[in-house]
Amino acid sequence: MTHLLLSSHIWPDTATIISGRLYVGGCDVTELAADHATPLYLLDEATLRGAMRAYRVALARYYPGPSRVHYAGKALLNTAVAQIVAEEGLGLDVVSGAELLVARRAGMSMGQVHLHGNAKGEAELRRAVEWGVGAIVVDSLDELDRLASLTHGMERPQGVLLRVAPNIDAHTHAHIATGGATSKFGLPLESVGAAAARVFNAEGLRLLGLHAHIGSQIFEVDQIRATVGVLTREMARLRDTFGVELEELSPGGGLGVPYTADMPPTNIDAYAATLSDAVRVACVAYGLRPPLLTVEPGRSIVARAGVAIYRVVARKLGPDGALLYLHVDGGMADNIRPALYGARYTALLANRADAAPGPPVDVAGRYCESGDVLLHAAPLPSAVPGDMIAVAVAGAYTLSMASTYNLVPRPALLLAGGGAARLIQRRETEEDLLARDSAL
Ligand SMILES: Cc1ncc(COP(=O)(O)O)c(C=O)c1O
Repeated sequence: MTHLLLSSHIWPDTATIISGRLYVGGCDVTELAADHATPLYLLDEATLRGAMRAYRVALARYYPGPSRVHYAGKALLNTAVAQIVAEEGLGLDVVSGAELLVARRAGMSMGQVHLHGNAKGEAELRRAVEWGVGAIVVDSLDELDRLASLTHGMERPQGVLLRVAPNIDAHTHAHIATGGATSKFGLPLESVGAAAARVFNAEGLRLLGLHAHIGSQIFEVDQIRATVGVLTREMARLRDTFGVELEELSPGGGLGVPYTADMPPTNIDAYAATLSDAVRVACVAYGLRPPLLTVEPGRSIVARAGVAIYRVVARKLGPDGALLYLHVDGGMADNIRPALYGARYTALLANRADAAPGPPVDVAGRYCESGDVLLHAAPLPSAVPGDMIAVAVAGAYTLSMASTYNLVPRPALLLAGGGAARLIQRRETEEDLLARDSAL
C-alpha cells in the first residue's frame, strides 16, 4: 500500500492517496463517484468545521472586544451546511428570501442572521423583518426609505447596518472587487451621514453599525487596515455629529485562498490577528470603545473543504496526434469560475493518482461554449475515458452559482467524514428541470 503526499493547503485536511486512489473524509472517492454518478461534489466535514473554529478561536484570542463570525452563505448554502454553521456557533449572512428559508429550516436563530443585497425585494425585506433577523444590511437610501415605511410602528425596532462603499481598491479581479467608490454596492461615503440621520429618525429602525466588504480573494494586509480605518473614521464622525457611538463594526469577508500549490496557504489566525490589531489601533486613535466585530468569511471557510469529481468522457487529439483536450461530464454550469474570470484549479486522477504525469492537457467542460475549459495545461497522467478527475478547492462559488445551461441536471453534494458520506443535496433530476416548463 503506497501513500502519496498531497499539498495540504490545497486539498482537504483528510485527503490522502492510498494505493493510487484519492480518499476524502475516509471515503474512497472513486467508489463514491461510482455509487452517486458524476459530476459529484464532496465536502470534507473536518476541513469545513476546522475553518469555522479557526475563525472563532482566533478572533476570541486577538480581539479585545466581543466578536462573531457570520458565514457568507453565498459561497455555498444548503440546510446541512447551515446546520453545521449553527453547531459551530457561527451566524449566517444571506442574500435572498430563499436563503433565509434555508436558515430557518436549519433551525438557526434569526438573531444570528443578516440579510444583505443591493436590490432586495419587498417580499424579502418583509420576511426578514417578520422573522426578526439580527440585521438588515442597508445598501442604498432608497432601500432605507422602503425599510423605514415597512417597519413604521413596529414594537421592536429592526436592527440595521449601513453598507459603506469605502473607496478602496481590493486589488482583486474586477468581477469580485466591491469596495470602489463606483462599485454597485454600498452607500457612497458622502451619504453615510444622511443615511444615519434617516435611521435615527425612523422609529422602527435601530442603527447598529457600519459594514463594508471590499471584495473577495483579498491577500493584502494593507487593505484590511484601510477598510477598518474608513469604517472607524465614519463611526467617529457619526458620534461627533449625532452623539451616538455605534455598537457594531463589520469589515466583511474576503480572505483569499490558494487554488494552486504555488500560492501561499490561507492563514486565518494571522488574518484575525491583523484585523483585531487594526480595529484596536483605530479605536484608540478615534477614542472609540472596541465595537462588536463581525466578520463574514465565505470562501476561506468552504473552498478547500470541497472537491469536485468529473468523469473523463472522451479525448480530442490534434492533427499531429497529440492530446489536446480531455472532455469531462461537467463544466461551466457547475463551476463558472474558470469561464467567468479565468480561475485556475489543481486536479489529479482520483482513481490513478500515482500514475506518472503525461504532457499537460486542457480539461474541457461539456457545455456549448468554447470558454468552458475547467483546467488549462493540467499536469495529469495520460487519462482515458472512465478515469475520474478530482478538482481541489471546489467548495466555494461553484454549486452556489450553478446553472441549468443545456438542461443538464446539477450535481449532488456529499458530506464526507469518519469513513462515511451523507447525501446533503441530491442530484437534480430531469423531472426537476422540466417541472417549471408548460406546453402550449
Ligand atoms: C457582503 C459580503 N460579505 C461577505 C462575502 C464573502 O466573501 P468571501 O467569500 O470572499 O469571504 C461577500 C462575497 O461576495 C459579500 O458580498
